Amino acid sequence: MSVNLATKIIKNGRHMTISDWLKTQKDKYKKEFLPLDAELILCFVLSVEDRSYLTLHEDQKLTPSQSARATGMLEQRIKDKMPLAYVLQEKEFYGRKFYVDSSVLIPRPETEGLIDIVKEIIGSDGNDWKIVDIGTGSSCIATTLKLELPKADVIGTDISPFALKTAKMNAKKLGAKITFTKTDLFEQMTLDAKKMVIVANLPYVDPKWDWVSKENLQYEPEVALYAEDGGLSEILRLLFQILTTAEATAKVFGKDNAGTKRNPRQTTYVVLELDPSQKARLDKLMTMNTDNLDWGDSAVIDFQKIKNLASLKTTDYAVVFKISII
Ligand SMILES: C[S@@+](CC[C@H](N)C(=O)[O-])C[C@H]1O[C@@H](n2cnc3c(N)ncnc32)[C@H](O)[C@@H]1O
Repeated sequence: MSVNLATKIIKNGRHMTISDWLKTQKDKYKKEFLPLDAELILCFVLSVEDRSYLTLHEDQKLTPSQSARATGMLEQRIKDKMPLAYVLQEKEFYGRKFYVDSSVLIPRPETEGLIDIVKEIIGSDGNDWKIVDIGTGSSCIATTLKLELPKADVIGTDISPFALKTAKMNAKKLGAKITFTKTDLFEQMTLDAKKMVIVANLPYVDPKWDWVSKENLQYEPEVALYAEDGGLSEILRLLFQILTTAEATAKVFGKDNAGTKRNPRQTTYVVLELDPSQKARLDKLMTMNTDNLDWGDSAVIDFQKIKNLASLKTTDYAVVFKISII
């Protein structure tokens, strides 16, 4: 059906069917048409989950407002090149739907690997564990971990107040009890639980990387994407903050004047997302950082990469460190 015919049908008061609408959009956009996205948009507007509904009900009539809404959304997707998640204002992560808008990064599939790693480290319902998600964004990591490990104490932090608003909204919508706080990375945070996981998907795209399409990322917040120094500036700053805190904690935990150990051990796992190309450099820099820190002699800090622990898997996009204060 031509665009004119479709317009005529609406004007004449006849409603377009599902198949009319899809055909009209295909004719309108020709080579630019995105059939899958068009179907997903229509499903969203009709509040149906499964695309097969569209084939099974191709003669179902759309109301003028459904048709206009779907047409407007497809225009945003194709003409404005807005990511589908922002058009639909939702993105699935680890089997749950998160609300997203331009205040937060769209959750990526590779970040689901961090959830698997944390679940493997904790290996229980989270009892006695504290999890801190630094740079929580939509709270896809914090909310998912709270729902997967319900007994864990989960904190979500971000520097962006706009992201925190969205994070809180998602946690509430999905029924996850999380404490959110505005911080610059780990600043003012403490290693105050015996067993902790600090998980972070920080910005790690260097603005100078010419192989990353800026057009694809234009709708996402810059604070969520870009970091200087080969994309590692925020990751390294976070690690330095954590290690400095560990050093201070070790001094407190150390031996008293009589030489008796004051406090039991504390273990922190640090689970970070990064680009596979950054791993080698991070390895090198981490060795330098630990060497340069003054650990003091009141406690022993064992800093090692978890990849040496046979039971843990890491994905291409994740690196895990373990800090033990004993
Ligand atoms: C790559 S996004 C990740 C969002 C979410 N965790 C995810 O995995 O989809 C990075 C997040 O870190 C936040 N961020 C950037 N710099 C930060 C800083 N210095 N301190 C705390 N959060 C920061 C951004 O606002 C953004 O929400």
